[in-house]
Amino acid sequence: MNSDVILPPQVAWASGVFANGPLIRKTTHIADLPGVFIDDDAWRGCEPQQRVYDVEMLDSPSDEGSLYVGVTHLYAGKIGDEFFMTRGHFHQRREQGEVYFGLRGCGLLLLQTPSGEARLERVKAGSVHIIPSFSAHRLINTGEDTLSALAVWPSVAGHDYAALAGGFSLRVFASEHHPQGWEVGNG
Ligand code: F6R
Ligand code: ZN
Repeated sequence: MNSDVILPPQVAWASGVFANGPLIRKTTHIADLPGVFIDDDAWRGCEPQQRVYDVEMLDSPSDEGSLYVGVTHLYAGKIGDEFFMTRGHFHQRREQGEVYFGLRGCGLLLLQTPSGEARLERVKAGSVHIIPSFSAHRLINTGEDTLSALAVWPSVAGHDYAALAGGFSLRVFASEHHPQGWEVGNG
């Protein structure tokens, strides 16, 4: 028997930072998110190269049955009255689900069915989110610190952003009138 023990990739639960893994990184800037925020003038007035989120994922096989693991670091910020959020997507293969684990910060996971029914789940360190099949999903950072969440999803799932070009049916706006600091509005 081979006594060599493999040292697997590691993630620091408190920060979501990976170590010892082959990583792929993708940064999304304000300029990459046209039409995502409702206040277009506010979006145009922002520094286009400001980072909104980074995704770090382990470079792993892409065949049927394989899984991807990645962490989204969604920075704190607002455009108009909306918090920084991810673009959001359906999976190209709609039947493929996903699991998100909150690691740090606080925010919301917006889920939406194909018929447009939306719901919100609170994301914080330790929260577990089972994203069912046929569900669009988007992270929203309602806090003042970086929101980091670990995701595990089937490699074959793919991303369909175009299906949400008209936006989600629900938006979250910053509000001083609510103790939680936000309120829900229509998309
Ligand atoms: C993968 C997944 C996450 C997101 C990431 C960025 O299926 O849900 O890794 O890809 O949070 O969000 P999008 O892809 O919507 O820009
Ligand atoms: Zn996804």
